[in-house]
Amino acid sequence: MKTQRIAEILKSTTTDYDITVKGWVRTKRGNKNVAFIALNDGSCVGNIQVVVDLQKIQEEELKAVTTGSCIRVDGKLVKSLGAGQGVEVQAEKIEVYGTADPDTYPLQKKGHSLEFLRDIAYLRPRTNTFGAVFRIRHAMAYAIHKYFNDHGFYYWHTPLITGSDCEGAGAMFNVTTMDLNNLPRTEDGQIDYSQDFYGKPCNLTVSGQLEGELGALALGQIYTFGPTFRAENSNTPRHLSEFWMIEPEMAFYELEENMELAEDFLKYLIRYALENCREDLEFMNKMWDKELIERLEFVIKNDFVRLDYTEGIEILKASGRKFEFPCDWGCDLQSEHERYLVEEHFKRPVILINYPKDIKAFYMKQNEDGKTVRAMDVLFPKIGEIIGGSEREADYGKLTARVKELQMSEAELWWYLDTRRWGSAPHSGFGLGFERLLLFVTGMANIRDVIPFPRTPNNAEF
Ligand code: 4AD
Ligand code: MG
Repeated sequence: MKTQRIAEILKSTTTDYDITVKGWVRTKRGNKNVAFIALNDGSCVGNIQVVVDLQKIQEEELKAVTTGSCIRVDGKLVKSLGAGQGVEVQAEKIEVYGTADPDTYPLQKKGHSLEFLRDIAYLRPRTNTFGAVFRIRHAMAYAIHKYFNDHGFYYWHTPLITGSDCEGAGAMFNVTTMDLNNLPRTEDGQIDYSQDFYGKPCNLTVSGQLEGELGALALGQIYTFGPTFRAENSNTPRHLSEFWMIEPEMAFYELEENMELAEDFLKYLIRYALENCREDLEFMNKMWDKELIERLEFVIKNDFVRLDYTEGIEILKASGRKFEFPCDWGCDLQSEHERYLVEEHFKRPVILINYPKDIKAFYMKQNEDGKTVRAMDVLFPKIGEIIGGSEREADYGKLTARVKELQMSEAELWWYLDTRRWGSAPHSGFGLGFERLLLFVTGMANIRDVIPFPRTPNNAEF
C-alpha cells in the first residue's frame, strides 16, 4: 500500500478506513491507559496524532518510541474527539524503523535558538521552522521555472567552471588540480597554468550572465538558475559564498522592459507563495515575523518606485541621517542607505537606475553623459538589494574600449566581445539572489537560515 503523506491525511474528509503512516516522532505523552504520539513526515507543519490503546499495544513496545525516532503505524483513520485536529490514527500496530536515544538526540525540547540549529544543520530540517522554510524554498524554485516557462523563456545551463570574472570583483575561488605544495613554474617564476587541468587559470563562476547573453542572442529569452560562488570575505546576514542565482537575459529588451519584468516576476513569486504556501507562511508569521504576511501583501499591491541613483543620493544627503558609510555621488550604496530609501523614505520597493559607471561592471550600457550606466538595482524592505541588473553594452567599439580602460583581458573575453561583432542586439537582464528572495518571503533574518547547508567564511561543514 502506498504511504499517504500526512499533509494529505490531515485534509481527509472521510474517515474509518485502514491507513499506514510513517514519520518521525515529535512528542509522546499520555497516561496508563492511552498514549498520544505526534508524528510528522515533513509534508506540512502539522503533526498527525496517533492514539495508542495500551490494552492493545504493550507499553513495553512503546519504549523505543521517543522524540526523534522514526516509526510506521498501521491503524484506522478516525474522527478526532480532541481539540486541535480533525482526524487521528488509532494504532493497531507500531514498527520502529529507527530509534533516537533521548540521551544523545539533540532535538529534544522545543525552542532551540537558530544559532544552535545552525550548528546542527544536518538535523534542523526536522524542526517545524526549517521544514516550513525549505518547503517554501522548493515552492519558489518551482514557481520560478513556471513563470519563465509560461512567459516563453528557455532554461539555459551555464558552466560553473569558467575562466572569466563576470562581475570584475575578483572574489573568486580557484579551480585547480595542481599540487599546491609543488606548483609548476614558468621560466620567469610565475605559476605555469599551462600544466593545469584546463591549461589556464579557472575559477568557480560568480555569475552565469556572460554565457547567458550568448543564449539570449540566439534563443531570444533565456534564464539561468544555478549556484554561484563568491569568495568575498563578508560575514553579514545577507552574504553567502555559495548562493543560487536566477539570471534572465532578453534580446530586444531595454532598461524599461527589464524593470517591468523584474517587478512582475517578483510580484508573481510573492503572490505564488501567498497562494500556495499559506500554512507555512502563517507559521513563520506567528513564530518569527509578525508583519510577514502583511509585508508580502503590501509589496504585491503597490508599484515599485523608479528612481535615478543621482536623485537617490540627493534624498540621502537631505535626510539629515548619520550613516556609518559616506553617501556622496560616486559611492556604492551600502545596505543602510538602501534600507533608508525603501523603509523610511518611500516605504515601498525601489528600483534605482543609472549608477555611476565606476562602481558597476564593465558590460553595462553606457549613458550619453559619459558618467553613468543603464544599471538597475531592485531594493527591498529588510533586505536592501535583492536584484542587480542592467541593459548591456551592445556596441562593439564602446564595449572593447571599456574592457581596455579597465585593463581587463581582451584575450580572455574574445568570445563575449565577438557577439557584438556579429548580429549584436539591444539586450538586458538581471540577477535575483535566490536566498535574498527567500529571506524576504520567509521573514527569516539571516541568510544562513534559508539554505539547507550554508557556505560562509570558515564554514563548510556538512
Ligand atoms: O548584483 P550582482 O553581483 O549581479 C550579477 O551577478 C549580475 N551578473 C546579474 C545579472 O545582471 N545577470 O548579483 C545579483 C544578485 C544580488 O542582487 C543579490 O541578490 C545576490 O545576487 N547576491 C548574493 N546573494 C547572497 N550572497 C552573496 N554573496 C551575494 N552576492 C550577490
Ligand atoms: Mg549588485
